[in-house]
Amino acid sequence: MDSILTEALLPGLELAFANASCPIKGLLFTNPNNPLGQCYPTSVLEGCIQFCQRHKIHFVSDEIYATTSYKCPDLQNPTPFVSALSLNLAALGCDPSRVHAFWSTSKDFGQSGVRMVGTLTIGSCPTSPTQEITLDRAVPLHRQTKN
Ligand SMILES: Cc1ncc(COP(=O)(O)O)c(C=O)c1O
Repeated sequence: MDSILTEALLPGLELAFANASCPIKGLLFTNPNNPLGQCYPTSVLEGCIQFCQRHKIHFVSDEIYATTSYKCPDLQNPTPFVSALSLNLAALGCDPSRVHAFWSTSKDFGQSGVRMVGTLTIGSCPTSPTQEITLDRAVPLHRQTKN
């Protein structure tokens, strides 16, 4: 399973895309990874974004654990977290309107159930064509309640 954190992931994505039985609209990427709790190397992150660019699909980076990082004696040289939004997308030849990242208050603030999310897209998007960076929030409809 650790191989998903390496460049071995990239041919696997191509294979999955080629064999998909339905139209693929995007790649949902969780960095830091859940359940492995480790971060993706920048080269893998860039490769995934370029994969999305090649296939004209969206790259959606779930960065909910971005600030939840701890030292671990089992990992001598842990890969540091790099946000998809910090990359030079132009240098990668990628359309910034296809790269999105989101973060929620649920982990850092213990707010599971509140389900509020911030989404950032660099570059113009259909709802806000003149802005370079947009911030949206959404509260999902389902919620657990207690008497
Ligand atoms: C990686 C990851 N993303 C998103 C979520 C959703 O978080 P919430 O709906 O509580 O904001 C979770 C929840 O466990 C998660 O582990």
